[in-house]
Parts: sequence; C-alpha cells; structure tokens
Amino acid sequence: MEEIEKEKLPRHIAIIMDGNGRWAKKKNLSRISGHLKGVDSVREVVTACREMGIKVLTLYAFSMENWQRPKEEVTALMGLLKEYLLKERDEMVKNNIRLSAIGRLEDLSPDVRATLDEAIKQTKKCDGMILNLALSYGGRSEILYAVHGILSDLKKGRIKEEEIDLSSFPQYLWTRGLPDPDLLIRTSGESRISNFLLYQIAYTELYLTETLWPDFNREELQKAIVDYQSRERRFGLTSEQINGMEE
Ligand code: IPE
Ligand code: IPE
Ligand code: MG
Repeated sequence: MEEIEKEKLPRHIAIIMDGNGRWAKKKNLSRISGHLKGVDSVREVVTACREMGIKVLTLYAFSMENWQRPKEEVTALMGLLKEYLLKERDEMVKNNIRLSAIGRLEDLSPDVRATLDEAIKQTKKCDGMILNLALSYGGRSEILYAVHGILSDLKKGRIKEEEIDLSSFPQYLWTRGLPDPDLLIRTSGESRISNFLLYQIAYTELYLTETLWPDFNREELQKAIVDYQSRERRFGLTSEQINGMEE
C-alpha cells in the first residue's frame, strides 16, 4: 500500500462511524453485536491516529436523532460508551491522549456523564492528540447553541455586534478551540452528512467508503489518508495560485 507522507498529514480527522447494524445483519447477529465489534474498530483507529501523529480525531458516536432508536439499542450503546471510557482512560493517559466531547452532553444519563467527565478530567494534561467524541451531537443544534451564546454575551456586553464575525463565531460552537476537520471519513457507503459538524466542514475533504465500520481498520485509515494527500485543496483559488505561480 502507498505510504503516508508525514509532512502532509491531516491535522484533524472526523469520522462518521456507520454500518454496525448492517455488519451484524450480514452475519445474522444482533445490531448490538455490531456495535460491540465497532468498539474494536474505535480502539484500532484511535491507536493508529496517535501513532501516525494526527492531532485531533473526532468520532461521531451518537447523534441527537439516535435517541429515537429502540430503547434496548440506546441502552446498549450507552453501556458500551461507559465501558469504553472506563477501560480506556488509563490507556489514554499512557498514550498522552486528551479526551474531549461535543454535543448536548446534558442528555446523557448521570452515570454516563460522570464517567465521561472523570475521563476528561483524568486526561486533561495530555497533549499528544485530542480524541473528541460527538455524543448526543447535532450540527444544527450546535449552531443554535452558538447563537444563544452570542445573544447572551451581547446582553452582558461581553461582545459588540460588530465583533460577531468569522473569527469570533466559531468560539461559540462546541468545537471552540479545535481546528476544522481536514478530512471527513464516512463508512458504510452512505453519501450524507447526517447532521455532523455542519459549520466546520465547509472546506473539509470527504472520503466515502463502502467498508462497514466494524471492518474499518488501520489499513483502511491509511488508504483514506493517502487519498486525501493526493488532492489539491484550493479553497476557492485557482490551481496556479495554490502552486505559487502567476495566472
Ligand atoms: C453506526 O452504525 C452506529 C451508530 C449510529 C450509533 P449503525 O447502527 O447506524 O449501523 P447501520 O447504519 O444500521 O448499518
Ligand atoms: C450517523 O449515523 C450517526 C453516527 C454515526 C453516530 P446514522 O446511521 O444515525 O445516520 P443515518 O440515519 O443513516 O443518516
Ligand atoms: Mg447507520
């Protein structure tokens, strides 16, 4: 397989981890077994990103809309999340990974929330990579949350109307302080965003793969990064401008 160019790594990779249910169905297993296998992929991808030198990895683990799934599935997913956090937090510290989370975290049950807060606290001094989990996340709600934050700061006189611009606005999003994703991966063959990072992906490179999330691994990740590195990110400019030549 083609090698990754170390000097052109995406700083921030975001992943829509999709296809656990279909993976299970193909094997005549329960959807929950698919999620369980999906956690192994999470471990492998987190380790691989850390080793490759990726700075931020955002994983879409649970959307706001996912609360509407059957109760048993939601309970199982929350159980897996809690178990993952409990099992992995020491490993994260060892590997210098800082955990963070975006989403309507107040929707999580008190015990899952406490476990999450504890893992965030335990890893807060780590600076090798940020593992950012999107939990009860919705991109539209995040934008509304930012609008409310701005209105409240306006009222308090902490910001002036003319200061609301492209540099201050992102500070009101849940992702404040994080760079925008360079690469967005979606597994399982779907070609949609499903309410993920709507504001932040304006110029993100998209990589869609048929591979179901439980089958996604280090090699698949490497393929995605190599593909990303072959692209020319123009940000609206011409190719000549990007390559430093006069038109
Ligand atoms: C992704 O797999 C996991 C979550 C959304 C929590 P799915 O559960 O959506 O799997 P499919 O799309 O049904 O195959
Ligand atoms: C997106 O997957 C959410 C996560 C991966 C957590 P979904 O399976 O919920 O998305 P849709 O319903 O296919 O758009
Ligand atoms: Mg799905």
